[in-house]
Amino acid sequence: TDIEKGTYPHFMLKEIDEQPPVIRKIIQEYQDDHDNIKLDPEVRKAMLDSDRVYIIAAGTSYHAGLVGKQFIEKLANVPVEVHIASEFSYNMPLLSEKPLFVFISQSGETADSRSVLVRIKELGHPSLTITNVPGSTLSREANYTLHLHAGPEIAVASTKAYTAQIAVLVILAVDTAQAKGINLEFDPLQELGIVASVMESLTDQKETFEKIAADFFTETRNAFYIGRGMDYFVVQEASLKLKEISYIQAEGFAGGELKHGTIALIEEGTPVIALSTQKNVNYSIRGNVQEVEARGAKTCIISIEGLEQDTDTFVIPHVHELLTPLASVVPMQLLAYYAALHRDCDVDKPRNLAKSVTVE
Ligand code: G6P
Repeated sequence: TDIEKGTYPHFMLKEIDEQPPVIRKIIQEYQDDHDNIKLDPEVRKAMLDSDRVYIIAAGTSYHAGLVGKQFIEKLANVPVEVHIASEFSYNMPLLSEKPLFVFISQSGETADSRSVLVRIKELGHPSLTITNVPGSTLSREANYTLHLHAGPEIAVASTKAYTAQIAVLVILAVDTAQAKGINLEFDPLQELGIVASVMESLTDQKETFEKIAADFFTETRNAFYIGRGMDYFVVQEASLKLKEISYIQAEGFAGGELKHGTIALIEEGTPVIALSTQKNVNYSIRGNVQEVEARGAKTCIISIEGLEQDTDTFVIPHVHELLTPLASVVPMQLLAYYAALHRDCDVDKPRNLAKSVTVE
């Protein structure tokens, strides 16, 4: 490959560090001369014409879709369903009158997603691909494309593509909201700029995450991440990152579901990482931490400025509440990276995995 690691030991670490410039690049690419959002008018029209958005994706891109649903529903007031591509083929839901299919795919080559695209084209439905590779199969075959502008992602574990997908989904949601005359009480591009700076401050604190990873993940066989609301989506991605590169059996759970089963797995010393960036669930997720602690779990809370408590392990600087996944995933990526490093795993090329899966 032509892409070099430079001074970095691994592509993954380089790509984690590239996230702030990628966010700034996205702001620039989707901004007009008056600092407003600039989007392909055909994409805007497709969004306005649709009564329901169906997001189709796999892996990390699916996790970005879960976050994107929140933006499109909360900001633009359009209902959204998010589907795992491979499942959609067998369990196709009843479709609305005017569905718009949005394929999220870093590579644009995922076979599971492509087979859904082929199927929905046969049914005559419009499609948009959000991808890092504009000439890719999913991009060529869909009606419209939005480009992630993240630059080539080499590490198998996706990092900068995830945050780029979320940023582009914010832009798509905001553009639709504005086109519908919905008044948003914040300046999205300015808030994304703040996110980029916060991401930078997080990637500047690598030693902190290296220490937490050494402490929590060096010995363990399993680990749990918990969150509620927006944080639930991020902890699913956090656990996927850890599984992929460190081979620790990890799951991301909704805090409220613990008591319905998972809490049975907590033993003396089981690592539980809690994420708390949402005001409405700050109290309840901390309650969950106490519950697992009482059963012997080794816990750690990563929170955000404004919601923090003295005992929190790490506090993320403030960002707009809807945009927290862009910031909160960075510590999670770094925790997974250092866990893999401490366990002598092949960070960039984990066993059994491929960067893009072109078979169903
Ligand atoms: C593979 C990769 C994952 C990725 C998924 C979807 O499984 O290992 O990192 O999230 O495919 O890839 P896509 O290119 O469609 O986003």
